[in-house]
Amino acid sequence: MPSERTEVQVRPGTEADLTALTDIYNHYVRETAITFDTAVFSPEERHPWLLSHPEDGPHRLLVARERVSGVILGYATSSPFRARPAYATSVEVSVYCAPDAGRRGIGTLLYKALFEALEGEDVHRAYAGIAQPNDASVRLHERFGFRHVGTYQEVGRKFGRYWDVAWYERPLGAGR
Ligand SMILES: CC(C)(COP(=O)(O)OP(=O)(O)OC[C@H]1O[C@@H](n2cnc3c(N)ncnc32)[C@H](O)[C@@H]1OP(=O)(O)O)[C@@H](O)C(=O)NCCC(=O)NCCS
Repeated sequence: MPSERTEVQVRPGTEADLTALTDIYNHYVRETAITFDTAVFSPEERHPWLLSHPEDGPHRLLVARERVSGVILGYATSSPFRARPAYATSVEVSVYCAPDAGRRGIGTLLYKALFEALEGEDVHRAYAGIAQPNDASVRLHERFGFRHVGTYQEVGRKFGRYWDVAWYERPLGAGR
């Protein structure tokens, strides 16, 4: 729906977005096993997460905002994959739409902007861990060139049952 998409601005996340971004994430924490966080966050508790995604560098936070209303429709991040220094060329990516903003192309818009932003950075691989089942996320990642590299079986427990996580990998930059 291109006409709808032009009404949506994608830009780096700021402190002013923190409450809306926390609300979106908390919805999935509370209602789903998409994320393995089990307790909701206050915006203050989420602040270090915001600060760890500056406007430049390999670790970004991009936000989709409806131009007219100012409503936050979703966000995408690239984050450290693992802490040890040799992993610095890999990022873990993630994307969350507001619960009523799915299937409008927002996820696609956010990932397009995120991967464009990462083009000049010294990053070589992107990874996404997708708790199963999640058809929407699998479709989105495959559309952006991610390939399934393996599944951790029953790696997490939430809501009293175990969940699999399928890992997806995408080459970045010259590695493509
Ligand atoms: C996954 C998510 C970000 C996709 O964003 P979106 O804006 O809904 O997706 P888009 O409209 O850009 O569509 C992208 C693809 O996903 C597909 N899709 C979207 N919602 C879907 C659904 N509910 N079921 C099946 N496929 C779906 C679209 O058909 C499209 O597929 P195509 O490329 O084959 O045509 C969104 O559904 C979401 O926020 N889900 C909850 C959070 C989540 O799962 N995040 C990912 C964590 S790994």
